[in-house]
Amino acid sequence: MKAPLISVCFVCLGNICRSPTAEGVFRRKVKDRGWEHLVAVDSAGTAAYHEGEQADRRSRAVAHRRGYDLDSIARQFKKEDLDRFDYVLAMDAQNLVDLQRLVVQGHNPKARLALLRDFDPSAPQGSSVPDPYYGGARGFDEVLEQCERACDGLLDHLAPGISGRA
Ligand code: 4NP
Repeated sequence: MKAPLISVCFVCLGNICRSPTAEGVFRRKVKDRGWEHLVAVDSAGTAAYHEGEQADRRSRAVAHRRGYDLDSIARQFKKEDLDRFDYVLAMDAQNLVDLQRLVVQGHNPKARLALLRDFDPSAPQGSSVPDPYYGGARGFDEVLEQCERACDGLLDHLAPGISGRA
């Protein structure tokens, strides 16, 4: 198989709620465009608390109802990942700060670091995907909806570089 053209890693705190949702939604949307051989998709957490776990059952249930499978296993984001991906997309401002702290002084990482929702043209600049972990069920629906809109925007952003190769 040819190497993918673009690689994307979604990052939250625990890698069991938000970033697995973004990963599952984006993977499906990439497949729907017929780009699965061109775009590599992954997710990770800034913390290691849940390493080795499946996505939270509440995230999986909400995703499943809308036709997405979340099959990631939690792992912690490592500073080497900054050079493995083209895009490293944080769910919230704290995740972004934590990622920026991994950048070694004087080294320009390969990855573009940004907030996922900055790719959603309908979201104000600097918007986060809020952490649903300690909240009610509605929070998980909101995460899914925010990820869907932002992933559509991300695909539109990537399309000019991909469409000639698909
Ligand atoms: P996530 O949600 O960052 O979207 O995966 C969380 C999961 C676990 C915890 C916090 C947030 N926790 O504190 O264990």
